This record gives sequence, C-alpha cells and structure tokens, in this order.
Amino acid sequence: MCGIVGYIGNSDSYPVLVKGLHRLEYRGYDSAGVAILNACGELHTYKAKGKVEDLERFCCDKDTAGSIGIAHTRWATHGEPNDVNAHPHVSENGEIALVHNGTIENYNVLKQALEEHGCTFRSETDTEVLVQLIQYIKESTKCPLLTAVREALSQVVGAYAIAVIDKRTPDTIIAARKSSPLVIGLGDDATYIASDATPIVDYTDRVVYLNDGEIAIIEKGKDLRVITFDNEPSDIDIRTLKMSVSQLEKGGYPHFMLKEIFEQPETIQDCIRGRIVGDKVRLSGVSENEDVFLGTGRIIIVACGTSWHAGLIGKRLIQEIAHIPVVVEYASEFRYSTPIINPDDVVIAISQSGETADTLAAIRLAKEHGAFVYGVCNVVGSSIARATDSGTYIHVGPEIGVASTKAFTGQVTVLAMLALAIGQLRGTVDSTSVRELASAIKALPVLISDALKLNDEIERLSGIYTYVHNFLYLGRGYNYPSALEGALKLKEISYIHAEGYPAAEMKHGPIALIDHELPTVIIAPNDEMHEKIISNIQQVKARGGSVIAVVTKGDSVIAGLADHILEISEVPECLSPVIVSIPLQLLAYHIAIKKGCNVDMPRNLAKSVTVE
Ligand code: F6R
Repeated sequence: MCGIVGYIGNSDSYPVLVKGLHRLEYRGYDSAGVAILNACGELHTYKAKGKVEDLERFCCDKDTAGSIGIAHTRWATHGEPNDVNAHPHVSENGEIALVHNGTIENYNVLKQALEEHGCTFRSETDTEVLVQLIQYIKESTKCPLLTAVREALSQVVGAYAIAVIDKRTPDTIIAARKSSPLVIGLGDDATYIASDATPIVDYTDRVVYLNDGEIAIIEKGKDLRVITFDNEPSDIDIRTLKMSVSQLEKGGYPHFMLKEIFEQPETIQDCIRGRIVGDKVRLSGVSENEDVFLGTGRIIIVACGTSWHAGLIGKRLIQEIAHIPVVVEYASEFRYSTPIINPDDVVIAISQSGETADTLAAIRLAKEHGAFVYGVCNVVGSSIARATDSGTYIHVGPEIGVASTKAFTGQVTVLAMLALAIGQLRGTVDSTSVRELASAIKALPVLISDALKLNDEIERLSGIYTYVHNFLYLGRGYNYPSALEGALKLKEISYIHAEGYPAAEMKHGPIALIDHELPTVIIAPNDEMHEKIISNIQQVKARGGSVIAVVTKGDSVIAGLADHILEISEVPECLSPVIVSIPLQLLAYHIAIKKGCNVDMPRNLAKSVTVE
C-alpha cells in the first residue's frame, strides 16, 4: 500500500528519490519522506504530511545532498497521517533509518518489550518498532547491521518490504521482503530499489525481483548480494524490463484515468495480440496444462474489487462456453471461510497489481489444498504472477490512476479468450462459434474507439448530475457486473453513493429509493433481457426517477423512455461489458472532475492493497 524507493550510487540521491516517489504515489499519498546519508556521514531525514509535492516544498531550503537515500510515500495503517507517523522512521540514537511497506502484526508485544528496555517511541506506527528493534539488537549484541536486521525480522510477524540505512555503514542499503513487493534495479554506476519498477525504468532495464524471505545487500561499487532469512546465498535472476517511460506519463491528458480510458483501443489490441491465430484462440497457459483443464470439475475465481467484477463476467463466460461450473469469491471472504477446495479444482486469481494481500492469501490456501492456480494479472513479475502455477497476462500496460479502467476491460477480454481456449480443448464449443467470437474479440478495439466518441456528450450530461447524492446502477446477465463496476467507479472517485443491482432485483427493495432525486443508470444493450429491462425503465419513470440508459445504437424504444441515452455499437452479449464500461467510466470521470475531486488519487484509497 505504501511506496518505497532507494538509491545508492555516485550522484545525489534526492532527485531520484523524489521522482520515484511521484511514480509510486498511486500506492499511497497521505504523507511522504526521505532519509539521506551525506559524504560527512550525516543522516538527514525530512518528512511531510500530504502529497510528494508537499515534501518537495518542505525540502526546498534543506540540505538534501548525499548519494545514499531511502524514501517513502504512505497509506496509513497504524497512526493517523501526520509528519511524525510519516516514514522514514529513525532509531532513537539517530543512526538507523528505515522505510516499510506492509504491517507488523505483533508490534504491540515488541513495543512493550522494547519500552521495558528503556526505549521511547515518537510515533504511533508499527514501523518505528522495527527500526528500534534493529538498533536494540545491534547495540545489545554488538553485531553488524545485516545480522541485526535478520534477527529483528525473525521476531516480526507480518507482511513487509523494508529498506534500511545506517550511519555506521554509510555505503550500504539493506532491503528485505516478505509478502510485499520489492524490485532492485541494476544501473551502470548506481543501484535502485523500489516497490515496483516504475521509479527504475528511467535509469536501467536490468532488474531483480526479490523473493519472499530474501534480504538484499546493496553496497556502493559492489555486486548485489541476496541471501535468505536463514543466511543462505540466493541466486540472482536478472530480468529485462519491458516498460517504457512514456507509459508512465500523462501524454497530454489532464489525468492518468482519462489517458487510461482513452488508451483502451490499443490496450485491448495488446491484450489480444498473438492469442487469436486464424480462427482459434491460443493461450499458452491452457495448452501447456491441457490435463488440468480437461480433468477439472470446477473453477473457483478469487479476486477483489473491480477484478472481482471481472470474475463475475468470467463465470458466465466459462460456464456458457466451457461448460465448467464456476464459483466466484471475494478473496478476503474465501480465505476465512473454511473453503472446500479439491485437488482437481482450478483456482483463477484475477489481479491488476498482482500484489493484493487477500488474493495472494487465497492463492496460498488453494495451493495448500493441492488446487491448480491460474493467474490473470497485469503487472509482470508481480507476487501473484509468480505465486500461480500458470496464467495469462492482460498486457494493458501500467495502470496508474487509482480507479481501475483499462485493467477491467483487459481482464474481461482475457477471460473471454480463456473460456474459448478451454471450450476448444474440452470440445464444448463448435468451430463456428469459436470463429464468430474470436472475430468479435478482434473487433473490440474498433468498438471501444466508437464508444469513446461519447466523451463530449457524457461531459455535458455529467453537469446535470454533478450534485446528486445517490445513484442506482442496474443491469442484467453479463451486465449485472457492469452495473456493479459502474457504481464502484462513480463512488470511488466522486464520493457519490452509488449502488449496483441486478435489474430484476429492483422490485425486491431498491425501488423504494426511487424518486426525482435518484437517477438510475440502466445498462440495456440489445440482448436476451432487453424486453425485461424496458419494463424496469418504465417502473423507474413511473416513480419520478430519471434514467440514463446505455443502449445499442438505434434503440428507438428506450430512446423514447429514458431521459438520456448513450449509444454503443452492436456487440455479442458476452463481450458487451467491455464496451458498456466505456461510457460508465467516462460518466464517473466527468462527474468527479465537475465536483473538483482528484480522480487519480481519490481520498482514502490506494491502488495496490498489500495489507488486510
Ligand atoms: C477499483 C479498484 C479496486 C481494485 C482492487 C483489486 O477501481 O481499483 O477495487 O480492483 O483493489 O486490485 P487488484 O486487481 O490489483 O488485485
């Protein structure tokens, strides 16, 4: 949830650290800080509540010289966001500084023990406990920093990625990970650390993803060393980054979210590339595991948030095309529900970031029960991508806006291809249907471009609804999850309460809410449920509610009933969520902008939920 950056090299670290923090700000943005070791052996720590730009303002008249540094952007878990609770945290003797992403579950016990040894604490954080513990071990046993870090980590229960510097060993950064990501970038004359590769891509494409239970020893002018928590040397697997700096910039758009919405014709093209060959769908994750997909009797999809919504669509796709029963679970509920998992189950874990703590825990549980775990991730090399047995990347490029947009359409597209690949293998879908659906998938980028032309109309429309307090979103079949996703987009970036419902459920309760102050967004493309959804529109109108309807072009019936229509192109029902989601994303975006909200960094949220 928080972002970590570190630099050790021959230049000043501050510019690299601050630029890196901006890149990682999507992970948390309630406070930020840097700790820098300078050539005189002094340790300077600067912290500020607020965004990285607030830290920069605070530092503009400070001494930020020094070629070794660590930095942090925070999403508060323990202790309110303020200057004191911001990272880096420094040991009581002022010698050791530490940044941390994750949570330390037994911090209270450790804190009490340290207090009994005379240690005093400044902050309310769990992190300060770790840095004080390292100092205590180092002083009481007269051991080197690395030994103290190893010993401290052996006492800590929780999830963490940390980076530590020490005045006494001024040419070294020690970093470690357990359940929170950490990437090390190997430059020609500098080494970088970060929570993901985005702060590193400007300087080098050679990276090492630290594994769980590993400690990296990064020394100026020396080769990287990695050891396990048990002090065994680890192999260093250097990977080449496939990411460009332009993917991380706004490219002329006012916000990442708008850029990412408009990128979708290309991102879906990238997602499909090489996977539809002739009339067939080819996914290596399926063809390399034919026995698994032929032998399974059930699929369990685990995910959170938007990825869970994509999972609901995946369920329908897989059941309809591959004829395998599918259950969809919130990863956070699944992991604590004593689930019945059979060794012949396939568990599909869907995650944009590949770092969501609950999804990762659900994967571990599934593996303990012997199930085969298939990942649908975006971030290459992420923890979930590495923890799964096989999988398919969605390949939509870095998603930086906190509200997920292009990842959702990429996930649905991959799930459609996955359903087809499994269906082909199991012989549950005939070649004509495969050909038709494969060509419909290939047509998605053009249909998305078409839907994006609604932007100006939606911007005008958003003005009418900017100050509404509640919204209802209704959809049926494949578009019930679209309704959930549309409502989630609106609430998370505009702070307007919005609820998604299966349209037919409206009469079982939510209809009581309808009056002239509650607009309803109804997703009503031409599909099997069209007639039934028309009657939902009539029910809303009869009670004085206004209706914004997403319809297929030329739908004169709904055009005559709804207050506003947003027309999309004809698309097969099972792929319609990909197209329908475009106007819903744009509606949420424009309403939030008109309300003056920060759409890329909505309050209280962070992109990657690496804590419970
Ligand atoms: C909503 C959103 C979140 C994420 C959820 C899961 O716009 O972004 O609901 O979908 O936190 O994240 P991932 O997909 O990274 O596991």
